[in-house]
Amino acid sequence: MTKVLINEQLVEEHDANVPYNDRGYTFGDGIYEYVRVYNNKLFTAKPHFERLLRSAKEIGLELNYTVNGLIDLVQELIVANKIINGGVYIQVTRGAAPRDHAFPTPSVKANIMGFTKSYDRPYKSLDEGINAITTEDIRWLRCDIKSLNLLGNVLAKEYAVKYNAQEAIQHRGEQVTEGSSSNAYAIKDGAIYTHPINNLILNGITRQVIKEIAEQNNIPFKEEAFTVDFLKNADEVIVSSTSIEVMPVVNLNGEAIGNGKVGPITRKLQEGFTHYIENESAVPLEAER
Ligand code: PDD
Repeated sequence: MTKVLINEQLVEEHDANVPYNDRGYTFGDGIYEYVRVYNNKLFTAKPHFERLLRSAKEIGLELNYTVNGLIDLVQELIVANKIINGGVYIQVTRGAAPRDHAFPTPSVKANIMGFTKSYDRPYKSLDEGINAITTEDIRWLRCDIKSLNLLGNVLAKEYAVKYNAQEAIQHRGEQVTEGSSSNAYAIKDGAIYTHPINNLILNGITRQVIKEIAEQNNIPFKEEAFTVDFLKNADEVIVSSTSIEVMPVVNLNGEAIGNGKVGPITRKLQEGFTHYIENESAVPLEAER
């Protein structure tokens, strides 16, 4: 039977209920993380839970956990659900209280919820690449916070689906920001370009790994905003996230990127990423702390 994490308890899926007036439900007042599991082990767990604590701090949500405390909580869920390859979602809301926009006074206990999903790496699309579409970024100005308010992202993704694409790459005016649930990169003349870390994008953990791999391979990693035109004329395009890893985009708005095939720098990054997974997974979780 599948277990769900509700606060500190592992409960059966059909008993996993949350209060109707939870602020996550009424206001999207909360934050989340999504962490990958490879070969029984959480992948890059520490930076993910550090980011969760940062998101909590940025919205003034009191969360009395350490990174290791959160890792233990989620680890228990993964073991209970026997996840070998998959992912774990964890969200924290400001708690349940009578509906009022301002924070509850006195404050109420934050509600934590987590569930797992079992699946393999997306080998086919990693090999062949995906289609993407560009769309205006209509989200708020704190996209650095991994907040539960995902309506802008949801609408962007749905737009992609409508046009037979797997990801929507968003732009504010002419400047490309990020994907609806990923970071975005243009590769031109041997260099990787991606939006700088600021309030307009999420500081992706996969992006951090890609940056490290690029540096190890002497591939210039330029954290500079670029235009939609630059993206369209790139030699290679990538989107990245915890679930899609280093994903090639071979078609943008119905037109081929470069020669329409996955390019050499993308392949180099993918190789590096696989190596990173294998090495991290070889290390017991405890050693990561
Ligand atoms: N999303 N930007 C946005 C808007 C995202 O939603 C995500 C990830 C990323 C990439 O971050 P990371 O590499 O840390 O996964 C960038 C996750 C996968 C999600 O919403 O499920």
